Amino acid sequence: MTEQLQDVGKRLAGRYAADLVEEGMVVGLGTGSTVLFAMERLAERMNEGLSLCGVPTSYQAELRARTFGIPLTSLAECCELDLAIDGADQVDPSLRLIKGRGAAQTRERCIAEAARRLVIVVDERKVVGSFSAPVPVEVISFAVPLVASRLAGMGGSPVVREGVSKDGPVITDNGNWVIDCTFPSIDDPDALETAINTLPGVLSCGLFCEFAEKTTVVIGEKEGIRTLMPRYSRGLCE
Ligand code: A5P
Repeated sequence: MTEQLQDVGKRLAGRYAADLVEEGMVVGLGTGSTVLFAMERLAERMNEGLSLCGVPTSYQAELRARTFGIPLTSLAECCELDLAIDGADQVDPSLRLIKGRGAAQTRERCIAEAARRLVIVVDERKVVGSFSAPVPVEVISFAVPLVASRLAGMGGSPVVREGVSKDGPVITDNGNWVIDCTFPSIDDPDALETAINTLPGVLSCGLFCEFAEKTTVVIGEKEGIRTLMPRYSRGLCE
């Protein structure tokens, strides 16, 4: 899939998700290039009269939202969100996710927890039968060697993420490091998520399995969008 086609899919998915926002909603604003298209559409709808308030998941999301003139609040002011719009690196058929390419998974997890509904926007290349992407893990710097050793013990290949245009490790918005851990296969994502997230020193890994029941995945394709919803849910997009 070419870069341009990916962008078509991302744009369609992002704009569709933005059209699900209703008057007066408090909306979690995710991180990454696909949510950018949702914010662009939200700004258009605000010009047409829509009122909303956003809660950003990262400095990137905050800066972009400010550029688009989206009013912002925080979890300190409001910890019950109507919905959150966010991206993902991979989505499996059970609506489980790998997130964290942008190192924002800890705040994204908080926003997903606070939101009544989670709308994930992706292009079709992100939809997989089973996970193969590295699992990003945010770790306090003190515990990086310990966590890396435990991840290796789980069968993973941990690598500390290095900065681009910055020497040394990536430092997250929360002041921590990121380990990207590749596994030969991920047969039980739920169990792996729990095992990683309960290691001392870990803030959050990028496996998001527990939100599937409230998740709608919007997949942007060349000719339009399709949605994935929990099997027994009435869903957001019906
Ligand atoms: C941020 O840490 C990630 O979880 C992003 O939400 C994810 O990588 C999606 O980004 P893109 O929309 O840019 O692919």
